Amino acid sequence: MEKLIPGLEGVPLMEAQVGFIDGQKGILEYRGIPIEDLAERSTYEEVAYLLLWGKLPTREEMGKFDHDLRTHRRVKYRIIDLMKCLPENGHPMDALQAAVAALGMFYPAKDVTNQEQNYWSIIRLIAKLPTIVAAFERMRHGDEPVKPRDDLSHAANFLWMLTEEDPDPLDVHIMDACLVLHAEHTMNASTFSGLVVGSTLADPYTMISSAIGALTGPLHGGANEQALRMFREIGTVENVRPYIEAKLKAKARIMGVGHRVYKVKDPRAFALQGLAAHLFKVKGEHPLYRVAQEVERVINEHVGAKGIASNVDFYSGVVYDKLGIPIDQFTPIFAIARVAGWLAHWMEHLKNNRLFRPDQVYTGQHDVPYVSIEQRV
Ligand SMILES: CC(C)(COP(=O)(O)OP(=O)(O)OC[C@H]1O[C@@H](n2cnc3c(N)ncnc32)[C@H](O)[C@@H]1OP(=O)(O)O)[C@@H](O)C(=O)NCCC(=O)NCCS
Repeated sequence: MEKLIPGLEGVPLMEAQVGFIDGQKGILEYRGIPIEDLAERSTYEEVAYLLLWGKLPTREEMGKFDHDLRTHRRVKYRIIDLMKCLPENGHPMDALQAAVAALGMFYPAKDVTNQEQNYWSIIRLIAKLPTIVAAFERMRHGDEPVKPRDDLSHAANFLWMLTEEDPDPLDVHIMDACLVLHAEHTMNASTFSGLVVGSTLADPYTMISSAIGALTGPLHGGANEQALRMFREIGTVENVRPYIEAKLKAKARIMGVGHRVYKVKDPRAFALQGLAAHLFKVKGEHPLYRVAQEVERVINEHVGAKGIASNVDFYSGVVYDKLGIPIDQFTPIFAIARVAGWLAHWMEHLKNNRLFRPDQVYTGQHDVPYVSIEQRV
């Protein structure tokens, strides 16, 4: 019998050059550049270029890419109308997935060997995702969507479209760094899901909508939302220890901690904690920051030795909450960022495409006689 590897843990899928993780040392690099440097010194637009084309852009290349993104932010009114028909109490990730799948009908891009067409699909997807997320947010509260502004950066424009207010420069900096930190993370469930769909030579909109679907789950992107809900449920620093100990005793999962690859604290959690500290210093501490820190301490004490530590989703919630972002928009923001990584892997895989068709270890029966419905018990 072939060896079964549940969850394909540790099984290499392909040769890749987009991102790199060392889970023992807590290293994450995009195209070889440490994530900490990018979060501090780069921008989301530049990082997207880096991921997609494998090098930091020259001033001229950056200018063109940025211009193309800025001029493709608008979405067709029919996409807006489509979202208006969705239940306003539905999850924004579901609205995003539906709208992205629909984009493919407006911008047919079926020939994935056409590089020019792929370029514009990439531009449209990166540019329009924030517009879709912000539009759904506005409409579910009965407000008109806010038109994107070409004079603002990717992060600033997103905040503008959410509130119709000129965004605060510190908020823009924090949002931009958060997008950088979430832009790529090698062969995780959503990237794999996108690659499986991409390997059938389906168009990039379909590929991205499948990756968005995978990201919704609480074991993946959905954990940031769940982590903040947990901090809210705990409420006070005093409640942390009994709450976490009871959960661990019951073998329940603590959201925002643990990782399939990292066996030490996720470098993105360090970076997010740094951003949180900076933001709270200027704008006042988030009431649940101390709860989060205490959760981290108790987790470390009990299961740290097992390699369970804070991941990217642990501190992002308190940061987004402080920026006034609604809790169920945390995962859509993750998607707005990760679309660059998904597309970079998709392009890489297309160069040497092979249809994914894994095997199984069949444990069912054989030669079972068909019994007519009258004779079944
Ligand atoms: C991400 C995750 C699915 C990866 O876990 P995994 O590689 O499948 O780890 P395993 O399920 O093999 O768990 C190994 C051990 O650690 C424990 N563990 C792992 N994550 C845990 C968590 N979040 N809370 C409590 N215990 C956890 C498991 O119970 C298991 O314990 P055991 O050896 O006593 O049975 C898991 O850590 C998790 O569910 N985390 C919470 C969700 C989350 O934050 N996801 C975002 C990831 S970026």
